[in-house]
Amino acid sequence: MDTNEIIFLPSDRDSSGRSFGDEEVQLLREVIEGGNLFCVPGNMVPRFERAFADLYGVPHARAVTSGTAAVHTALGALDIAPGDEIVTTPITDMGAITPILFQGAVPVYADVEWDTLNISADTIRPRITERTRAIIVTHLFGNPCDMDPIMALAAEHDLPVLEDTAQAYLATYKGRLVGTFGDIAAFSFQQGKHMTTGEGGMIISSDPELARRARVWADKGWNYDPKAPDHEFMGLNYRMTELQGAVGLAQLQKLPGMVEARVASVGLLLDRIEDIPGVKIARVHPEAAATWWRVPLLIDVDEIGVTPAEIEAGLKRVKIWAKAGYISRPAFHCAQFTEKRTFRDTWWPYSAHTAPLPPETLEEYPGCRDALRRVLVIPWTEKHEEEHAIYVADQIRAVVESKRAASVSGGLET
Ligand SMILES: Cc1ncc(COP(=O)(O)O)c(C=O)c1O
Repeated sequence: MDTNEIIFLPSDRDSSGRSFGDEEVQLLREVIEGGNLFCVPGNMVPRFERAFADLYGVPHARAVTSGTAAVHTALGALDIAPGDEIVTTPITDMGAITPILFQGAVPVYADVEWDTLNISADTIRPRITERTRAIIVTHLFGNPCDMDPIMALAAEHDLPVLEDTAQAYLATYKGRLVGTFGDIAAFSFQQGKHMTTGEGGMIISSDPELARRARVWADKGWNYDPKAPDHEFMGLNYRMTELQGAVGLAQLQKLPGMVEARVASVGLLLDRIEDIPGVKIARVHPEAAATWWRVPLLIDVDEIGVTPAEIEAGLKRVKIWAKAGYISRPAFHCAQFTEKRTFRDTWWPYSAHTAPLPPETLEEYPGCRDALRRVLVIPWTEKHEEEHAIYVADQIRAVVESKRAASVSGGLET
């Protein structure tokens, strides 16, 4: 292929990379013509919840306004309270961490494995204390965590597991969908996810009481109990609108096909870059099937002398918007945490949390340090086809080869 020819890749920010069509329009029309956008007396959100639960083979699903709201609602359902510690990953979206602080609890970070980018039973174990009240596991980039040892560890300590499945639609571990291992799972339908409602989220659970608490919690604590209607406990309004429900319902029908298309085109990319030295995809557990939200390539900087940032810059010139490092720093190095910017100058809940927390330095998190040093994230969508996979692969090869040649010839780029 001519590596000088620029191909414009599908983007999840417009219709080139998103799958909206008559199905969404028809359901949206139904909502508008019916005149009700409110989910409680509505039918789109309840239908979406039912269909989502059925797809996951669980009895309960609760739609909410975002992935952040889904994590927050799940923590509310788990009754997380001030003084609690929640073990989680330092490489994730802030929307999965901030809700912990809003519950008055503090995040305690487990290291990630540099080659899967996920936390594991081995990295979670040393973080468990008598104050730990839950574990959040994030299947980053759609790559399933090693769930059996994590669930065994959680059972040993009688801790609930919240699966953050925002990036892992229809990914499986040992033939079972991730999101069905833990006590509760949280999804995001933000614009760039495997399926989208613009903003939105879903919680699933097989535990009827947790599911009931999630429903009540995300509806200002109102229980809709005909015998004893009340604001049963503190909660927020995270209700999804019927408009989002309509789009979600239509998107859900397309989800298996969209996921299949992603996995197939990422497979083509991986086949074509297989022989590039020092460039490979994050490790997937042998009994897991990842569904690649984005493509996390790991660059062996020591082997090839080329950094993810250099490849990012080279790819940018040919309109491939790769990102070195995914998040630029671990969560605990963001100002929100280093400066404890929470509630004005109270620093609460940190100020009330007198028990020692693990030191938040990169030496303490070698897996996280190495993962962020090596990872190069390639955006992907369900509309990427063979020509796009070939283009991205060949451009990665061209950039790596030119950088390597330049470093061999003393810095003069060829
Ligand atoms: C792993 C993870 N958790 C939570 C969230 C928060 O979701 P939202 O942006 O819908 O609030 C995201 C969003 O990117 C995410 O990737």
